[in-house]
Amino acid sequence: MEELGLIRHGAVLLRDGLVTAVGPDERICRLPAARGAKPVDAGCRVVLPGFVDSHTHALFAAPRLDEYEARIGGSTYAGLARAGGGIQASARLIRSASERSLVCRLGQVARLFLEHGTTTIEVKSGYGLELDGELKMLRAIREAAGRSPLEMVPTLLAHDVPRRFRRKRARFLRVWTRELIPLVARSGLAECCDVFCDRGYFSLRETGMVLRAAARAGLKLKVHAEQLVRSGSALLAAGLGALSADHLDHLSEADIRRLRGTPTVATLLPGTTLHLDSHPDPPARWLIDAGVPVALATNFNPGSSPTVSMQLILSLACSRLKMSPAEALTAATVNGAYALGRGSLVGSLEVGKQADLIIMDATDYREIPYYVGMNHCVTVIKRGRVVFSRGGREARG
Ligand code: NIG
Repeated sequence: MEELGLIRHGAVLLRDGLVTAVGPDERICRLPAARGAKPVDAGCRVVLPGFVDSHTHALFAAPRLDEYEARIGGSTYAGLARAGGGIQASARLIRSASERSLVCRLGQVARLFLEHGTTTIEVKSGYGLELDGELKMLRAIREAAGRSPLEMVPTLLAHDVPRRFRRKRARFLRVWTRELIPLVARSGLAECCDVFCDRGYFSLRETGMVLRAAARAGLKLKVHAEQLVRSGSALLAAGLGALSADHLDHLSEADIRRLRGTPTVATLLPGTTLHLDSHPDPPARWLIDAGVPVALATNFNPGSSPTVSMQLILSLACSRLKMSPAEALTAATVNGAYALGRGSLVGSLEVGKQADLIIMDATDYREIPYYVGMNHCVTVIKRGRVVFSRGGREARG
């Protein structure tokens, strides 16, 4: 994760939305294929692959500002959830929102991600809870994705049990495993399935049931694991060949040893521990030192991490999780791509991969985590096309 393959005075040749050559400026510019190419001069600034944000709940109907203020006053995330807030509050808002308004909202959010240098995101459902609501969210994600240059990977998320099913969990899970999951997989509305396995949400046994049904239906797997307490869900995820186990704040040392060598990426979400002021922080150093691939993501959502900025996440990863700037960049790009099953397509500037590039107003990549809370992104290229450039300072030529 330390090796960025940095090229000073580099150039990237793009064609038909793909990277066709990358290397030192003098070599690339002399290639016959570069003749007639339209130059984009990054002006000695840092050029990176676009960020891949592999864990977001980017589709929600409204922020939860009252809860934010209540938590500042001493309420807890779990206490607010028990009182009917939290995920259940966002679910009520999704129920009353029209599908059209959700498409529009996600379109606006997509613009924000692009402006901050993110070119691929995962978007989870999970605030619909029941069959109709989940399908409504997934249809809205598909529609918004079709209208935006931001690439969106849709995930079906079992997030919480609706209140009316609290005493009928088995029936609720039957609808998920026998109806919703097969329907979603057949219609291509989601690529992945995720479960919030934690105290007060889904048990380890229930999580296994949902994930196995999803795997049978052909969906890729992800798990919200070890966030509030240690549940054993990270190892369950790894045992089922999940793409990623996410959060991991309460992962044990034994878990880390057993994650090593599995295909599952450990996805860390330090925006969440910051916003909830929760402890402990996820054990990034132990994971990396043990050789487990680590990804970073925003976890953009209205309850525990209201940020779209992967640059802020890099700052937190370096300052709080003690990742080096190079490790953090790897985690926010190519490892995020693997956490989404898109490792061969996005996340690095390599021949044959998608031409997803960002130009940052920095001359050294370490400036990106160093300047906390700043947006360095001046130009975004998605699939070879400039889709955002910041007024006056855009790439020249
Ligand atoms: O990843 N942990 C579960 N889901 C989100 C929170 C969602 C919400 O509060 O709306 C998370 O932190």
